[in-house]
Amino acid sequence: MKVVTLRWHKDRLEMIDQRVLPKTFQYIAYDSAASVAEGIRDMVVRGAPAIGCAAAYGVALEALRLRESSREDFNAKLEEGFHALAESRPTAVNLFWALERMRKHWQGLALAQNNPSDIVGGLLQEAHEILAEDIRNNRAMGKLGAELLHDGDTVLTHCNAGALATAGHGTALGVIRSAIETGKHLSVIADETRPFLQGARLTAWEMVQEGIPITLICDNMAGHLMKDGKIDAVIVGADRVAANGDVANKIGTYMVAVLARRHGIPFYVAAPLSTIDLKINSGTDIPIEERDATEVTGYGDVTWAPDGIRVRNPAFDVTPAELVSALITERGVITSPDPSRIAALLTG
Ligand code: MRU
Repeated sequence: MKVVTLRWHKDRLEMIDQRVLPKTFQYIAYDSAASVAEGIRDMVVRGAPAIGCAAAYGVALEALRLRESSREDFNAKLEEGFHALAESRPTAVNLFWALERMRKHWQGLALAQNNPSDIVGGLLQEAHEILAEDIRNNRAMGKLGAELLHDGDTVLTHCNAGALATAGHGTALGVIRSAIETGKHLSVIADETRPFLQGARLTAWEMVQEGIPITLICDNMAGHLMKDGKIDAVIVGADRVAANGDVANKIGTYMVAVLARRHGIPFYVAAPLSTIDLKINSGTDIPIEERDATEVTGYGDVTWAPDGIRVRNPAFDVTPAELVSALITERGVITSPDPSRIAALLTG
């Protein structure tokens, strides 16, 4: 089954509800920027590129909703829509990248056309283009990254950087998929990825759908398997890459990167150029989302921690560039990323 994370259907955005996978497969329909912002915050949709696509459609939906408004109301309310979407989650830069792109497009359309209803079609077209581009980029990354993996490799991944985290194919899982398409035999080890279980629920589900061999482990088992020589490479996605190559990704990624270095295992990051944030010099400046304590004290209807316990729940961590063997982008692979190599790729 081809995973279609987001789709435009009858003037609505439909998104797979990632909170209830793999038990339940269902789409939820959205009709405004505010409702999409809520869907992003609640993790109906998650994963940096998918969040960016959802936000772009959120803007288009809001414009559609306001199409009969006066020019002044349209402008004021669309601004509110942008604001609600920007407030939904702080770490994945693709969200802000997509909003900026939609804003620029809106400004261009507004200069050329006076009527809000003419602007709507243009914004929707741009959202469609952002989605299509993401799939093309993932395919390009997959092709380039596949060369780094060898026939027979067992590859560890953390969180879900697959079709569900993007418009399709995936970043880290896209590389694995592309390598398999070239005829390489790979097997995947998925960290469960506490607390939201993106590995156990989403990566495991995606791989099982396609019959890609996968083994699920708890997050604290990776070191043991690496020491035993059971892991040949690590590949993860990213939520934001700083100008110096530091990588913010799902909490626990840093731990895996340190372990990989200790055991001489290559640690790869696959991320589109829209995930690189040149405005941020180093990882220490990347905003790290802190999520609700209930994600740590239990899951679903089950609570296992005592009432009132103090909790920390940072949703991301930063892996320093020095631990990254290579950054795989749609434009090329940067080995041992550093500020000058990243700048050269972006300007080249
Ligand atoms: O909290 P999430 O599930 O949105 O976090 C997702 C990740 O950390 C992914 O690894 C990252 O966004 C890359 S997705 C291609």
